[in-house]
Amino acid sequence: MTATPWWRDAVIYQVYIQSFADGNADGIGDIAGLRSRVGYLSALGIDAIWITPWYRSPLHDAGYDVADYRAIHPRYGTLSEARELIRECHAAGLRVILDIVPNHTSSAHPSFVEALRASPGSPARSWYHFRTGRDGGDSPPNDWLSVFGGSAWTRVQDEGEWYLHLFDASQPDLNWDNQEVRAEFEDILRFWFDLGVDGFRIDVATALMKAPGLPDLGYPDGAFLADLTRPNHPHRDRDEVHEIYRSWRKLADSYDPPRMFVAEAWVDDADRLSRYVRPDELNTTLNLFYLKSAWSAASMRTAIDSSIAATASVGAPTTWSLSNHDVERVVTRYGRADTRRIPGVSGPELGPVDERLGRRRARAAALLTLALPGSPYIYQGDELGLADAQIPPAARQDPIWIRSGGRRWGRDGTRVPLPWTTDGGSYGFGDDGAWLPQPAGWGSHAVEAQDGDDTSFLELYRQALHLRRTHPALGGTNAVTWHDAPRDDVLLFTRSPGFGCLVNFGPVPAPIPLHGQVLLASDGADFDGLLAPFGAVWLDLDHATTRTPHEEPGER
Ligand code: NOJ
Repeated sequence: MTATPWWRDAVIYQVYIQSFADGNADGIGDIAGLRSRVGYLSALGIDAIWITPWYRSPLHDAGYDVADYRAIHPRYGTLSEARELIRECHAAGLRVILDIVPNHTSSAHPSFVEALRASPGSPARSWYHFRTGRDGGDSPPNDWLSVFGGSAWTRVQDEGEWYLHLFDASQPDLNWDNQEVRAEFEDILRFWFDLGVDGFRIDVATALMKAPGLPDLGYPDGAFLADLTRPNHPHRDRDEVHEIYRSWRKLADSYDPPRMFVAEAWVDDADRLSRYVRPDELNTTLNLFYLKSAWSAASMRTAIDSSIAATASVGAPTTWSLSNHDVERVVTRYGRADTRRIPGVSGPELGPVDERLGRRRARAAALLTLALPGSPYIYQGDELGLADAQIPPAARQDPIWIRSGGRRWGRDGTRVPLPWTTDGGSYGFGDDGAWLPQPAGWGSHAVEAQDGDDTSFLELYRQALHLRRTHPALGGTNAVTWHDAPRDDVLLFTRSPGFGCLVNFGPVPAPIPLHGQVLLASDGADFDGLLAPFGAVWLDLDHATTRTPHEEPGER
């Protein structure tokens, strides 16, 4: 019998390296800090970590602007420390996934520097998208806009050609029609696979191929942000991109054990998304339908069903994420009246946040997520119930904030260094100080404050992850069976053998319609047969207690 590949149901923890743990007291997270917390991660009960880019980079976009894909940025450590980290993670039973950024390099990458020096039409320029401008050269070659805002083109300094960048001007897009670019990236993958890395998260996996001739998109006057929703988009989800990933999959499968990929693919159509995870392509894709969904019974059920159906159609497992370093933390989003993720908008313009409510919902969401079949992702700090922090304008670093001239709030609030201890200069993140200011009171959410407290977020995650490993119905990819719930704002499903999950999205207690022993509850276990408002519960249905299902609250 062949064993199920680990990535089909792995719990993957996202390490945003500069904000995880600081080992050398310079206020910036690093490999030494991460190595000092491998014990914490393995005790949490996860299976793998995904480390955001740690390569040499000018850090205009937090490392998603890579200047050398085979070198560690000195602020994070050295290659030999990386090798040690991988060895220590493996010894602790954790796999290691890195982030590969193939759509663009940094403008400081030697091949872009060389391209700038070279003349128009040269082989060096053909690594990127250089074009002559319109209107005698003075206007960008087409109307494309950057995902971060403004034109997607910047003119080179000698006022000659323009180059394409779908993100910041410091992130020139590579030309994937160039076979040398393809060969270079396969070589980079081999470099890290040979070092023992277990897989890669692929940054903006949908954007690599552009429509021939780079046609206009047809933006209205005054448009500022890239529109990524058009059908047959000229720089999003092009059919030609799949050939690249088929080749990558062959490469990953040539290793023993095979390595894996997870795509970052913001594709709005579930069938289009499933094309990335066909049997000869990528192993998994991040599930952005689930992440974007409003916290309501109807939306979550639709997101769950459509995600499972889409991936099942090609035999791939589903993944589940509630947040990451690009979006608001789940406590903040779920603390609002409108709990959807609205693309391109964040911060106070979305309305006030009730963090207490957000935390209750986020606890329930953790139980829902960890009860689903497939591979859940946890963004660092979500296991502590952190909310987004308000970063003073002068301290903000995100190019979204900078490029929009302060019109867009940016992502810094979700990237604040973790609190490990209740006090101390940077709450145990390092010795003193952190690269982004931590809010006052951050220590009350620290690992130290939550450790051993049964009512804490951290202990809820630890218990859920432990049960997910030990309960025979959890983990794996076996099906979810939905049952009629007592009300429209309640979801109820079972998984075999003998597991039930009930989620109450509403503000009034809900009857628990199944006989079962409470395995874990998001809001305390003393229900008197009722599920708390905004709560979730896991039930062991093979070990029913004598308690009978409770009548509706009105009937008491
Ligand atoms: C997606 C990454 O998650 C984000 O942080 C980055 O800014 C863009 N891709 C560009 O690389």
